[in-house]
Amino acid sequence: MKKILLSTALLSLTLLNAATTQEIKDEAKTAIVKLKTTLQTELKANMKKGGVQQAAVFCSNRASDITHAVNISFANHAKIRRISLKPRNSANSPKSDERIVLEQMQKDIDNGKKLKPLIVKQIYKDTYKVYKPIFINKGVCLKCHGNTQIRDAKAYKIIKQNYPNDRAINYKMNDFRGAFVVTIVKK
Ligand code: HEC
Repeated sequence: MKKILLSTALLSLTLLNAATTQEIKDEAKTAIVKLKTTLQTELKANMKKGGVQQAAVFCSNRASDITHAVNISFANHAKIRRISLKPRNSANSPKSDERIVLEQMQKDIDNGKKLKPLIVKQIYKDTYKVYKPIFINKGVCLKCHGNTQIRDAKAYKIIKQNYPNDRAINYKMNDFRGAFVVTIVKK
C-alpha cells in the first residue's frame, strides 16, 4: 500500500514537472519570437533603406535598446538576452552557468550531434533558464560577422568603431553563433 502511494506521489510529481517544463518553454518561446521578429524586421527595413551600412548603424545603436524594450513588456518574471562565446557587445558575454551551456552546445555540434531546439536548466528552486541556439543561417549575417573577404568593409568600419573589442567575426555559414537565453521565475 505504502509503495503504491509512494509511486502515485512520484508519478504526480513527474507529471507536474512535465507540465511546468512545458509552460516554461512556452513562455520562453513567446519572448524569443518577440525579440527575434523585432530584430529581424528592423534589420531588413534598415537594409532596405540604406544597405548594410545603415543596418550596421541600426544594430550598433538599437539592438540592446530593443532587447530592453522587449524585456519591459513582460512583467517581471521573464528576461531575455542574446549571448555568445565570441560576443560583439561584451554585455552579451555569458555568465558562468551560461558559458557551460554554450560550451556544451559547441561540443555537441563538433561531435555531429543535432541540438535540441530549446534547452531548459533549473538554476534555483523557482528560476529557470531556457536556451535557444542561434546559427549563422543567412548569407546576410556574414556581411557583418564573416571574414574580411565577405564582410562589408564600410559597415564593418562602423561596427569596429562601436565595438573595438569585437570578437564576432570570421563565422561561416551554418556556424553556431550563440543563443537566446530567457530567465523565467516560476512561483
Ligand atoms: C548590419 C550588420 C549585422 C548583420 C547583417 C547581422 N548582425 Fe549580428 N550583430 C551586429 C551588431 C552591431 C551586434 C551588436 C549588437 C549589440 O550591441 O547587442 C550584433 C550582435 C549579434 C548577436 C549578439 C551577440 C553578440 O555577439 O553581441 C548575435 C547572436 C548576432 N548578432 C547574430 C546575427 C545573425 C544570426 C545574423 C544573421 C541573421 C546577424 N547577426 C546579422 C551586426 C549585424
